[in-house]
Amino acid sequence: MNEELKAHLEFFEELGVDGVRLEPEWRARREPAEPIEPNEPIEPIEPNEPNEPKDPLRIIREELGADCSRCKLHTLGRTQVVFGVGNPNADLMFVGEAPGGDEDIQGEPFVGRAGQLLTKIIEAIDLRREDVYIANVIKCRPPGNRNPEPDEVEQCQPFLFRQIETVKPKVIVALGKFAAQCLLRTNDPITRIRGREFKYRDAILIPTYHPAYLLRTPSAKREVWEDMKRVRAILHGE
Ligand code: URA
Repeated sequence: MNEELKAHLEFFEELGVDGVRLEPEWRARREPAEPIEPNEPIEPIEPNEPNEPKDPLRIIREELGADCSRCKLHTLGRTQVVFGVGNPNADLMFVGEAPGGDEDIQGEPFVGRAGQLLTKIIEAIDLRREDVYIANVIKCRPPGNRNPEPDEVEQCQPFLFRQIETVKPKVIVALGKFAAQCLLRTNDPITRIRGREFKYRDAILIPTYHPAYLLRTPSAKREVWEDMKRVRAILHGE
């Protein structure tokens, strides 16, 4: 068996997939994205041409500001604000909790180990990372990757809400307890809300386990795969 196919099937097995699809679209799926190089330079924001309509995500990003000081995280060792990345017109949006160490350095959400697993999860439903939009509830790294605190969430979540309003995804996947609780305004544990679908404005919200949890608890990958199959079906209008 060729090496690439072997790696692909091994990953599916890791996810708990018990079979593969034989439809031509599946076989014609695109190559996985290149691995992410650490410490890639962050693209500078180019100035808008005069009279060019402003990109709405860019307006939000500028309002948030590259040196945001709305909450205490700006004094607690963050390197930079990590805004969001991906297709500004994506049908599918992932929402995580907060940047970790790798994201804080690279300025992009989900680029560390959990992020690499997220990329594989995206590819498992025949999409590429650049097809979707990825953001976090809070945009700065909490020290030592501690949980976000309520005042931090309070200050930062309006920017996430505006990102969602702008991208207008059909499906939002809330990764883990913090994202799910923030978007659904509930204190219910993730174990109670996962496996269900919720309406979030014009989108369908699917809560699932955070990829960092999957790294610690690989057996939960099977449930995430169930959730992702549902995401794919909704995106295909099924
Ligand atoms: N965990 C998150 O919730 N977000 C990231 O961007 C990285 C890890």
